[in-house]
Amino acid sequence: MPKSQKIAVAGGTGGVGNHIVEGLLELQSRSPTSITKVIVLSRSSTTKGSYIQSPSSPDLHAPIISVDYTSVSSISNVLSEHQIDTVISTLVGEPSQFIPAQETLLQAALSVPTVHRFAPSEFGSDSEQIESAPLYKMKLPILKSLREVKVRRSSSLLPFEFTKFVCGIFMNHLGFGNPKPNGSQALGHLRSFPYIVDISNGTADVPGDGNDKIWYTTAEDVGRFVAEATQLDEWPEESTMVGDVVTTNQVIEMVERISGELCIAVFRTHIPPFPPIFCAHIRVIDDVFLFIAFSGKKITPRYNTEAQLFARMDPNPTSWTGNHYLESFLSIVRGERVQKTSVLNELTSVKPMTVEDYLQKWWGKDD
Ligand SMILES: NC(=O)c1ccc[n+]([C@@H]2O[C@H](COP(=O)([O-])OP(=O)(O)OC[C@H]3O[C@@H](n4cnc5c(N)ncnc54)[C@H](OP(=O)(O)O)[C@@H]3O)[C@@H](O)[C@H]2O)c1
Repeated sequence: MPKSQKIAVAGGTGGVGNHIVEGLLELQSRSPTSITKVIVLSRSSTTKGSYIQSPSSPDLHAPIISVDYTSVSSISNVLSEHQIDTVISTLVGEPSQFIPAQETLLQAALSVPTVHRFAPSEFGSDSEQIESAPLYKMKLPILKSLREVKVRRSSSLLPFEFTKFVCGIFMNHLGFGNPKPNGSQALGHLRSFPYIVDISNGTADVPGDGNDKIWYTTAEDVGRFVAEATQLDEWPEESTMVGDVVTTNQVIEMVERISGELCIAVFRTHIPPFPPIFCAHIRVIDDVFLFIAFSGKKITPRYNTEAQLFARMDPNPTSWTGNHYLESFLSIVRGERVQKTSVLNELTSVKPMTVEDYLQKWWGKDD
């Protein structure tokens, strides 16, 4: 199967999509003959003339082109005009809009003979493994369509591949509220909120007892992995990737260790008030105290059993995201987010960031 050269990112204006566009442009700047064109599809009609610029090579950019996700021809005209061979969806939205939007995108892609690859909007844990968080089910219809198309096209002159990009949870949310001067960059293009461990607030809302493994990748690394995946000769149906696998209790231990520093002080006669979180004093002789203190972030966890998660759920949710946050926790506790492979770690040259390195970067003491 030919590698991808001309790539359209649907929803590339959004959080994850923007990172993928940047990853593709970064690869294009390193290897201009591999990727020759990146375009962004957007619903917005005010995007004429706007583009996403490569952070590393300002002369490289991906134009943002307006499409209508209810019209096959609106999308196919754009794909055809730019001779796109690969469509990557990073769409999101209410299921009643998201499901038909992705299906229209696929139908448009199939009507353009140059398109031979399609990636649906996954970019989380594997939607096909998750039972406890019903919102993930909106990602399933497109996978069914893609499997049918792949079989149908296998014996035709227009072969077709698809892949599920599975990356676990975005590590970036651990950077929320960090005190670094450039701290807002920790979240990348993602929406800014803490997830599970809120380091700035010193709290953690923990699924289960905190010993379940969680698969983390930074959004920047997801962009790099996806970009390199476009240069694979074959697309595996599951493109799993991971930066690190750690439990919430391990994250808490790392935060407390990394954000702190050891202080040793000697006081005579009295002990002054001392704010650090872990401290011990040893009375050496009569009026001399040796003080050993570790000043770091203290995280107070709130552990949640399944029963406690159910008790917190809103019986009449008013938004389409419903109880998704708590249901996602349930899926962690029930082991539905276990990622058994890391295919792109093996097939690409990306060296992803670990949780320890990420925490060190955004919460570590400066040298
Ligand atoms: N692993 C994780 O921790 C994690 C976290 C967040 C998201 N995700 C996943 O990553 C993917 C992208 O999420 P995101 O947070 O990056 O999304 P987002 O920024 O909220 O939206 C992505 C883009 O989708 C388009 N869009 C929004 N509503 C739409 C609709 N009703 N119909 C068509 N297009 C619509 C918008 O582009 P235009 O306005 O330009 O059309 C938007 O910029 C999703 O599959 C999501 O589940 C994973």
